[in-house]
Amino acid sequence: MVLKYIFWLWMAATAVVAKEEADKPNFIVILTDDQDQQLDSMKYMPKVKKLLTDEGVYFNHHYATVALCCPARASLWTGKAAHNTNVTNLRPPYGGYPKFVEEGWISKWLPVYMQKSGYKTYFTGKLMNNHNANNYMNGLKEMGLDGHDFMIEPGTYQYTNTTIQHNFEKPRSYPGVYATDLLANKSMAWMDDAAKEKKPFFLAINPVNPHNNYQWGKGWTKPVPAKRHEGTFPDAKVPRSVSFNPDRPSGAAWVHELPQLSDAVIKDNDLYYRRRLQALQAVDDLVETTIDTLKRHKMLDNTYIIYTSDNGFHISQHRLMPGKRCPYEEDVNVPMIIRGPGIPKGKTADIVTSHLDIAPTIVEWAGGKGPGDFDGSVIPKEGTTTPDEPWEHVEVEHWGAVSDKRDIPLSGKVNTYKAIRVIGDTYNLFYSVWCEGDHEVYDMSADPHQMNNLYNSTEKILGVSMKKLEHRLDALTLVLKTCKAKTCQSPWEALHPDGKVKTLVDALDSKYDEFYNKQNRVKFNECSRGYIVSNEYPIKYHIYGNHSPEAPFPGLNYKDLVKKVLSFKVLRWTTPSQGYSSGYRHSCSDSSFKELFEMLLSDTIQGLDLHDLIP
Ligand SMILES: *[C@@H]1O[C@H](CO)[C@@H](O)[C@H](O)[C@H]1NC(C)=O
Ligand SMILES: *[C@@H]1O[C@H](CO)[C@@H](O)[C@H](O)[C@H]1NC(C)=O
Ligand SMILES: *[C@@H]1O[C@H](CO)[C@@H](O)[C@H](O)[C@H]1NC(C)=O
Ligand SMILES: *[C@@H]1O[C@H](CO)[C@@H](O)[C@H](O)[C@H]1NC(C)=O
Repeated sequence: MVLKYIFWLWMAATAVVAKEEADKPNFIVILTDDQDQQLDSMKYMPKVKKLLTDEGVYFNHHYATVALCCPARASLWTGKAAHNTNVTNLRPPYGGYPKFVEEGWISKWLPVYMQKSGYKTYFTGKLMNNHNANNYMNGLKEMGLDGHDFMIEPGTYQYTNTTIQHNFEKPRSYPGVYATDLLANKSMAWMDDAAKEKKPFFLAINPVNPHNNYQWGKGWTKPVPAKRHEGTFPDAKVPRSVSFNPDRPSGAAWVHELPQLSDAVIKDNDLYYRRRLQALQAVDDLVETTIDTLKRHKMLDNTYIIYTSDNGFHISQHRLMPGKRCPYEEDVNVPMIIRGPGIPKGKTADIVTSHLDIAPTIVEWAGGKGPGDFDGSVIPKEGTTTPDEPWEHVEVEHWGAVSDKRDIPLSGKVNTYKAIRVIGDTYNLFYSVWCEGDHEVYDMSADPHQMNNLYNSTEKILGVSMKKLEHRLDALTLVLKTCKAKTCQSPWEALHPDGKVKTLVDALDSKYDEFYNKQNRVKFNECSRGYIVSNEYPIKYHIYGNHSPEAPFPGLNYKDLVKKVLSFKVLRWTTPSQGYSSGYRHSCSDSSFKELFEMLLSDTIQGLDLHDLIP
């Protein structure tokens, strides 16, 4: 009798759990590769418009935090900025799948959190660069996937000869098959699988369109459309905005030195543009198939669909050859749509969102548990917010080589910079600092194509001088370039812990002029191709109301810190680029000294010359 009762209780309890889990929403993320928002690609996707945009919220100011596939994806799937993932490029030592695994992200990314939150997890298509037939086993068991069909190298970018790596099987190539249609079929199969389960599901679908095609044995060519889409949009051309191959140079650093493109190149770039639009048609079809499949399983009403692209793309703007990696709007502003339960239909949202927000949003809406230190925030379902919680900023960062395929000597240049976008009701601004020292300020309301650099000019914005504005924008960049979790979400509060400054406009109050004048400035000591912290000092900032920058060690004031360092018997200090390990003797362990010394060097403290450390 008692046993029977216990059994009944157990049955009831499992039924409740199963019911709750079955009620949880499903999530599908569709992530395209290199798709622009600024060059109008979305206008050529009627099914996406009808099935996603008209049925959900279009986030107009959505940004990739790095304009490059691999680091953008690493950040999107982990909810962590590139300066925190340290996956900053396409291949080792600074990026690629091996770096993602080496840094431990393979067990700290969205599918792991979703699986732990009771979800079935599936992944199809491209994960990231350098994920290939030799290394796919690395991390495969830790990555929290119940099923997957990865597109891996050397097939990732072969539109008609892809390589699929299924679950624990050996990779297989598919010559003659259009990769995106195959991807659609594989994705639908996982939805069929999910429909049989009692659990909610998470599915990431990652087509490679409209990225370049890789032709085996030949190299890179224009994107390849499916047969049924060949020759579509015969008259489409890259929009001729004012930044289109301009007569006078624009941009900063190496971009400013580019020669104008020839007519022949422009014509070829227009063809390239059409091929991209044609290749996107298969994604348009994939979206339709996805919706049809959800309908067939009666799962549509309970599924969020998030559509975005890893990074944007430029073609001929600022005289650039087709590509990405720049901080300009074409490269960083990407399409982003969400439809699903509780999401308004056919609405455009102006709040500033980024890829860092996607993982925290999905985990929260799933009622799941994340790592507790996402750099992004949970996106409001309505796409609106209150003055108390402004969504006004995003930081864009990049480290690496210049890539602009043409016959001029650019190979020695480094494309390393920090940039921010700050958007509110009365302002829409861009600010950048490049590793060579160039700065840019654009008033994006008056100059959306970034042709008129106002840095150090006599113009006024928001009624204040450029200097005054620049000091605020620089301080915001200073916080964001090393931010973690809360400081990424509320950077002004890192500078003003009293909570009185929440937006750029608040920070412009004259009573803060002196504080911002004396603030450390964002700069690079060297141009490097990866995130080498010592090349980016200072990293600390003064905090309003305190006299010294944020204490490196809580509870230890600056004087004590200096005393402590002096007690290490420093014989001679060397510059960060020379390395600090060569010239000192110490009485504690190497690593703790190094940590202390690095933190000390990172501060430019008024009234203290580091030479003071030489006894
Ligand atoms: C996808 O599935 C459909 C329906 O089963 C089939 O007709 C088509 O050939 C498949 N396409 C690919 C590329 O596998
Ligand atoms: C397809 O790709 C494989 C490598 O994955 C290569 O060995 C093969 O030659 C390619 N076939 C064609 C037709 O390009
Ligand atoms: C800023 O402008 C001042 C005055 O026009 C000039 O002396 C200075 O060199 C400029 N600085 C930069 C970084 O352009
Ligand atoms: C990032 O990775 C590179 C390459 O391994 C390394 O040199 C650098 O110190 C790392 N940066 C940080 C902040 O960990």
